[in-house]
Amino acid sequence: MVTEQIRSSVLITSVLNPNMRVFDVVMRTEYGTSYNSYVVVGSRGIALIDAAHATFCEDYLNKLERALEGRTPDYLVMNHTEPDHSGTVATLLERYPNLTVVISKAGAIYLKNIVNRDDVRMMIVTDGDKLDLGDQTLRFISAPFLHWPDTMFTWLPEKGVVFTCDFLGAHYCEPQLFDHRIIYRDAYSDAVKNYFDCIFAPFKPFVLKGLEKLAALDADYACTSHGPILTRTCELERIKAHYHTWATEEPRAYKRIPLFYCSAYGNTEQLATHVARGLLRAQPAAEVTCYDLVKHDLARLAAILNESDAFFIGSPTINRDALPVVWNLIASIDAVTIPRRPVALFGSYGWSGEALPHLAERLSSLKAKVFETQLKVCFTPTPADLKAAEELGEAFGSSLD
Ligand code: FEO
Repeated sequence: MVTEQIRSSVLITSVLNPNMRVFDVVMRTEYGTSYNSYVVVGSRGIALIDAAHATFCEDYLNKLERALEGRTPDYLVMNHTEPDHSGTVATLLERYPNLTVVISKAGAIYLKNIVNRDDVRMMIVTDGDKLDLGDQTLRFISAPFLHWPDTMFTWLPEKGVVFTCDFLGAHYCEPQLFDHRIIYRDAYSDAVKNYFDCIFAPFKPFVLKGLEKLAALDADYACTSHGPILTRTCELERIKAHYHTWATEEPRAYKRIPLFYCSAYGNTEQLATHVARGLLRAQPAAEVTCYDLVKHDLARLAAILNESDAFFIGSPTINRDALPVVWNLIASIDAVTIPRRPVALFGSYGWSGEALPHLAERLSSLKAKVFETQLKVCFTPTPADLKAAEELGEAFGSSLD
């Protein structure tokens, strides 16, 4: 665990978790993480910025006590309430009963249900609001969907420090939490890209708005809640530039329409090939690629699906359902960007063929636009079935114009 002064009266109180390999159940994290929180000591008040994961509560509180040197904090600024930052708030409130939580309106709703208390003293702030700490001022900058609706940045103009919580962060852990002390720079760069892809890729327009707001501040330090603190003279400008590149959508001159399938005995695979043939008749300029779900990395396929213009899913039926590998792909669909995305379904079955209706129901609940015609074939496709597969591809392709 780390406590260090960033600038006079601004301290970091970080918990290190170098062994974390999965975050939030689903996110790969090869390099561990840190939960960074901060203390700003003003002449008329002390503010904590964000907190830590509940698992590390004792470590966090010990470090915080050392940073406070016997003083009592007045405020806890919650830039974002996801439990990796709010898991210790209930304990903080017990230890410091006069603490006022400074938080966005959305964050206040979440926090109430995270700590299960109705009596938390809260100061709800909106964009541009300020908190006077005497010789220091905190200004709050609304930054919704980076990456929750509650998110905000906190700006400390007297020190040129902006606290960005997850934004510009990385699940990355080295003992020294400053960018100029990073030892394994390639690993850090990999962690930054992975973090962007997993956390911010669904929110690209909001990323660009967040960058605009940061540009107006011209900060010397960006204090993130995971990974190293970023400084103007080292990584800060480079990472902002990367975010800008990654969040800027290049207009594509062609449609991307992938077909994802799995196939126990080659029957659904045959259908996929013929669906693709028909699809290309209707969309000759489209990028149409068939992906066997068991032969490719799921994360890569999920990224392809999430950046598609439309897509197909083909599944056999086993145990009256689609196969787990198909459900895994669907579980990786980005619920923010999927609404109204066209999708069509096909598959071979042996006994009953429930896979397609189950998939249609789930995709509809995600608000994807499920093509009315589905192709369900019993065992080996006949020439008529293969013709129907081509017709399905062509009809779906024609519906996309
Ligand atoms: Fe690091 Fe969205 O929490």
